[in-house]
Amino acid sequence: MKFTLKVWRQEGPTAKGRFETYEAPNISEEMSFLEVLDVVNESLIREGKEPVHFDHDCREGICGSCGMMINGQAHGPQRGTATCQLHMRKFDDGATIVVEPWRAASFPIVRDLVVNRSAFDRIIEAGGFVSVNTGSAPEANMLPVPKQVADAAMDAAQCIGCGACVAACPNGAAQLFTSAKLQHLNLLPQGQSERWQRTESMVETMEEYFGTCTNHGECETACPKNISIDFIAYMNRDYIKAKTVNRKLSGQGLG
Ligand code: FES
Repeated sequence: MKFTLKVWRQEGPTAKGRFETYEAPNISEEMSFLEVLDVVNESLIREGKEPVHFDHDCREGICGSCGMMINGQAHGPQRGTATCQLHMRKFDDGATIVVEPWRAASFPIVRDLVVNRSAFDRIIEAGGFVSVNTGSAPEANMLPVPKQVADAAMDAAQCIGCGACVAACPNGAAQLFTSAKLQHLNLLPQGQSERWQRTESMVETMEEYFGTCTNHGECETACPKNISIDFIAYMNRDYIKAKTVNRKLSGQGLG
């Protein structure tokens, strides 16, 4: 297979960006999209040019670092798939493919296809801990968790924090990410100790950096882990309750 790639190049956060066109001949249909970028980079390096900068780590769909817009879609045309798991057989031979970084004000461009996703870290820092007993592991059956609850918590825990939800959202909202990170803890018995403080803190930190959800649903479509927007409803429910509970605790000098 062969492809023409139009890739966004930008030397730094304040530099003016532009598309550059690269040919990628002799591509196997088994190659992943990142491997095609590797091929392009090898030829750029041979020519003494600067390779295309892009984030990647696991290349197994679990680290969430390989986000990019491919033909205007977050992670490309295949649903439920991260860029590193997207194979070239999904494209027509001879196609021209446009590759851009995430386009979101909260994810400023660092260079080429690399963006700064530290706004996600601020949300996690705002509430990302649980109180647990240390010592040896307790007997698992001492803490029964209904299967439906365990399944839902595991579905939420699949979030890899790639940022596709934000990039796909017309409002640049991070509700899907935040709700997944909240609900994989809030649904489980082990996550109850700080449930209300965590919810209020993470939601309000999210609102500092990201836009507001207006139920477009693009986030769910773009998510490489198929995380459901139902979690946003759970988060909104928990946030309303958190405001009441935390106010009560604060009135008792406990908040
Ligand atoms: S490189 Fe880790 S999810 Fe793609």
